[in-house]
Parts: sequence; structure tokens; C-alpha cells
Amino acid sequence: MEQAQFDSLLQWFENFVKPYLETDEEGRRNILLKIVHTRKVCEAMALLCAGEGLSPEETRIASAVALLHDVGRFPQYRRWRTFRDSDSDNHARLAIDVIREEKLLSCLEQQEQLLIEEAVRFHNLLELPSQAQSLTRLYIKLIRDADKIDIWRVFSELLALPDTERASAATLGLADLPEVVSDGCINALANGSVVQLDSVRTLNDFKLLQISWVYDLNFASSRRLLLERGHIPALASYLPERDDIRAAVARALASLSDGRQ
Ligand SMILES: [Fe+2]
Repeated sequence: MEQAQFDSLLQWFENFVKPYLETDEEGRRNILLKIVHTRKVCEAMALLCAGEGLSPEETRIASAVALLHDVGRFPQYRRWRTFRDSDSDNHARLAIDVIREEKLLSCLEQQEQLLIEEAVRFHNLLELPSQAQSLTRLYIKLIRDADKIDIWRVFSELLALPDTERASAATLGLADLPEVVSDGCINALANGSVVQLDSVRTLNDFKLLQISWVYDLNFASSRRLLLERGHIPALASYLPERDDIRAAVARALASLSDGRQ
């Protein structure tokens, strides 16, 4: 991919998202959240690519993946008014529809098209697909980390806002019950594993799920960036003051500095 081809993708994105902002106040806030998220994932991706020593060519492909990974969010929200895939459709599949309808990658070599499409398609899987070929795996791993790095920012910022000013769809409709935390979610985090979305009942559980993503990072640069940005302590500051939660969070933080997964 040439730089000029990437630049025209960037321009396409800005034009594509504009009409989605023409909606009510709540809708605008949710759409804006995804526009800013996309730009910030692109920034995080650039840092990861530099940190991991990728070539300029690889960096452009990774940047295209970052730019396109969530384009499915816009039609998803317009049609269903939610970002919850289980109540609507898989947003990664919707992104592929957009990419193909808009013929965004048709000027690229077949191999590059395939890499970008596959990384977008699989960016939100619970686990890395084992059958993906090694080159695709690199981009899937990169986008999964870059995406998480920005989702941590989105949530830390969101939790600092009063309820009425939060982008409503970002919290997936979960109840904000300040003292309620599910044991299953604390246990998963305490055991060093990723909290599963289907065990999440409340907003506090969702914070634990996000903290547990430290166990699903692929690159040392991602762990470094996360530590520098301090998102884990920020998220944890919105959890109830309890010893079991404190210990589980401390373990997650320690795993980041150890470089353990
Ligand atoms: Fe994303």
C-alpha cells in the first residue's frame, strides 16, 4: 500500500462518518465516541508499530486496519441504536460489508486486501483464531491491543462523567449499582484470566472485565503504554473498596510490569 492510498482512506473515513452525526443529541454523542475512538486507535497503532519495529509498509497496513476496524459501528448504531453485538449484529462483519460496498480496498494487491479484511473481521473475537495464517495473526494481534488501549481511555473518561453526560451505548445498558460486583468476575480476575462478557451483570463487572484484558495483550509495547497511561488504576478507582478486589487488581497490574501475560 502506498502512502497516497492510505491518505485517501483517511479522507474517505472523515466523509463517511459525517452523515451519522446528523441525529439527536444522544445519537451524536454515541457516534462521536466511535469517531474519536477510531482516531485514537490509529494513534495507538502508530505507537505499537514503532515500538515493535514494523516496516513503513507493514505500518500502513496496520494503520488501515485501525482506521477500518470499527466502521461497522456506524451502520450498527443507526439501525439498532446499540453497540451491543448480541442485540444487533457482529460489528466486525458489518465492517466488512462497508469495506466491500464502498470498494475501499479494491486498488490494493489481493494479499493486502485479504490481510486487512481478515484483521478487521477477527478483531473482536474472544480469542485469537488458531487457523489464521501467521501474517494475518500479526495484524489481528496489533489491532486487538490498539483497540483495548483506547477502550481503556474511553471508559476511564466516561466513568469520570456524571451519568447524564455519558455516551449511553458505551456502557451496553448495564446497571450502575455502586456496591454490586459478581463473584465470578472477581474470581476470574483474581485467577489471572479474562472475564467473560456473559458473566457480566453490572457496570462494576464490566470494569473488572476491562481490567482483565491485561491478560490478553500481545506486545510489550502495549503493556508499556498501558502502564504509562495509568488506565488500570483509573478504572479500579471506580470499584468498591474491598480487599478481594484490591488484590485481584494488584495482581493484574503486577503482571503488566513483569511482562507476564
Ligand atoms: Fe474498536
